[in-house]
Amino acid sequence: MSSQYFTFIFFILFFLFHFHSFESFPLTTSSRWIINDSGDRVKLACINWPGHLHVMIPEGLNKKPMKDIVNDIYNVMGFNCVRLTWATYMYTRYSNVTVSESLDRWNLSVVKEGVAKNNPEVLEMSVVEAQNVVVDEIGKGKMMVVLDNHVSLPEWCCGENDGNGFFGDEFFDPQEWVMGLVAVARRYNGNPSVVAMSIRNELRGPRQNMTTWYDYMQQGGAAIHHANPNILVIFSGLSYDTNLGFLKTQPITNNLDNKLVFESHWYSFGQPYDNWIHQTNEYCANVTKLFMDQSGFLLLHDSENRFPVFLSEFGLDQRGGNEMENRYFVCLLATVAEIDIDWGLWQLPGSYMLREGRVDTEDVYGMYDFMWDKVRNSTMVDRLRFIQTKIQNVNDGQCNQTSYVLYHPLSGQCVEASHLLLMTDCQHASHWTHERDGGLIQQTSTTHCLTTVKQGMAPVMSHQDDCSTPESFWNVVSSSKHHLASKDSEGNNLCLEVDPFTLEIVTNKCLCLDDDLRDVLKCDDNPQSQWLKLIPINKIDQ
Ligand SMILES: *[C@@H]1O[C@H](CO)[C@@H](O)[C@H](O)[C@H]1NC(C)=O
Ligand SMILES: *[C@@H]1O[C@H](CO)[C@@H](O)[C@H](O)[C@H]1NC(C)=O
Ligand SMILES: *[C@@H]1O[C@H](CO)[C@@H](O)[C@H](O)[C@H]1NC(C)=O
Ligand SMILES: *[C@@H]1O[C@H](CO)[C@@H](O)[C@H](O)[C@H]1NC(C)=O
Ligand SMILES: *[C@@H]1O[C@H](CO)[C@@H](O)[C@H](O)[C@H]1NC(C)=O
Ligand SMILES: *[C@@H]1O[C@H](CO)[C@@H](O)[C@H](O)[C@H]1NC(C)=O
Ligand SMILES: *[C@@H]1O[C@H](CO)[C@@H](O)[C@H](O)[C@H]1NC(C)=O
Repeated sequence: MSSQYFTFIFFILFFLFHFHSFESFPLTTSSRWIINDSGDRVKLACINWPGHLHVMIPEGLNKKPMKDIVNDIYNVMGFNCVRLTWATYMYTRYSNVTVSESLDRWNLSVVKEGVAKNNPEVLEMSVVEAQNVVVDEIGKGKMMVVLDNHVSLPEWCCGENDGNGFFGDEFFDPQEWVMGLVAVARRYNGNPSVVAMSIRNELRGPRQNMTTWYDYMQQGGAAIHHANPNILVIFSGLSYDTNLGFLKTQPITNNLDNKLVFESHWYSFGQPYDNWIHQTNEYCANVTKLFMDQSGFLLLHDSENRFPVFLSEFGLDQRGGNEMENRYFVCLLATVAEIDIDWGLWQLPGSYMLREGRVDTEDVYGMYDFMWDKVRNSTMVDRLRFIQTKIQNVNDGQCNQTSYVLYHPLSGQCVEASHLLLMTDCQHASHWTHERDGGLIQQTSTTHCLTTVKQGMAPVMSHQDDCSTPESFWNVVSSSKHHLASKDSEGNNLCLEVDPFTLEIVTNKCLCLDDDLRDVLKCDDNPQSQWLKLIPINKIDQ
């Protein structure tokens, strides 16, 4: 009796401890949405936390206690999920190696001192056990974990010919890969922190082949689903996870009992600097179209073949020193908000224990600074806040999608109409209706409309009677579709603009657009101060 009683108490405590945070476990898919058992949408807003390099433990355990890292990810940075990367060999060859042995093997004595200081309990654990305690810690921190098979041989990823790129490459034996996937799926079966596994990162290289892709991806996916039917299974495309376009002609028919999700990456690597700088509007339009054609189409596809797409990597030098990357990032934010896709930013670490031969090496794509002490750039946290929220609920018809926020991706803020127009965080911003291009932008539940006064001045909210002149009619212009233009009383085109420093809203001459509001061929301004976008919204949480 009393033992039953204690079992009961234990069970209750276990539930309170473990489950109240997991409104999310288990997850399934419904069309393009990821949902929980009540049918509510669960949005993945993840940070990538690499654990697939030589030492085979999550980075940073030498810099900070894992509990504090987890606390920062959730409470300071605002993510609800971690994409934790791992290497196949960690499970198939080195699962009994201890953290201590692994550090010694690479002569990482200083790093080892750091681990001994910050996370001493992991030193004598095997690398697999160490991963497991980090996973549990993330769960206790109320976040979800996506386990991502990143490479086979533990090392920095991804090179064209690094032997980790495609089935049959030097280190990429398909059978061993499946064994590793099954081992992970089994270990975390029943662990509510782990909501998904992505089965291989950035397939690439000269061996890429669609036939092989279909064979092995379905084999790997089925093996995971069999070993752990609760978790989502995530398939990546070809060419470094940028191309799923082949699914248009040859769709995957087995959706693993509504557990199948696709993933995609979107970076600016290798893109022409001049196009980004001098043709920002048109180049943004081009890369956005490419993303939608090759991956995003799965969200909008005919209804049978719609799937969730997880934008599992994107990122930039967070110091803001690379202007091409800065423009790319703002371009990407506009689309991520508009389609309200699930996503994961690359990446958490401010430093790596050992990467490409360098010990304790800095990474400026990291949310953390080098010491894992503070966030590298708090502006980043502000800019991510809107896309970290659920913007849209499960809804496919979009029939009643009449409400918008007016979003400025450069600052990550939205417009609020009180007696003045102000920029504010998007959760507290005004909602608007805009029934057609060229029509009014009205604040919902009012009859007030947004109206241009003159160049260099703030627009105003007009009363209904004053909403019938061209100053109140707004068109989406430029090939980027990111500018909103109306006319002043003399018939000149003006665009909405937000001063990036003072956050004052004005209307001004449209940047980088000609008199017909088409993109000019070469422009020396940055038009992104004028990127204001109506983002459909039917849900903002938090
Ligand atoms: C699903 O998510 C909603 C919203 O977050 C939450 O209220 C609900 O309890 C969750 N349902 C389950 C079964 O976890
Ligand atoms: C790890 O140790 C266990 C128990 O001794 C053994 O069964 C297993 O084969 C070992 N795994 C590896 C990868 O060496
Ligand atoms: C570690 O140090 C030993 C002794 O100095 C050396 O023989 C070995 O090559 C080193 N290993 C690595 C991975 O650097
Ligand atoms: C892909 O692999 C299959 C089977 O190995 C082979 O028949 C086919 O020719 C390959 N296709 C390409 C485009 O390499
Ligand atoms: C955008 O794509 C079009 C069509 O492919 C091309 O003609 C144009 O040069 C591209 N623009 C830029 C800025 O790269
Ligand atoms: C943070 O990022 C912004 C935007 O890119 C940049 O202007 C700023 O200089 C960065 N600040 C730091 C401290 O790196
Ligand atoms: C749209 O709204 C109307 C009226 O509020 C409602 O009757 C209808 O069911 C809604 N349609 C959808 C698809 O939600």
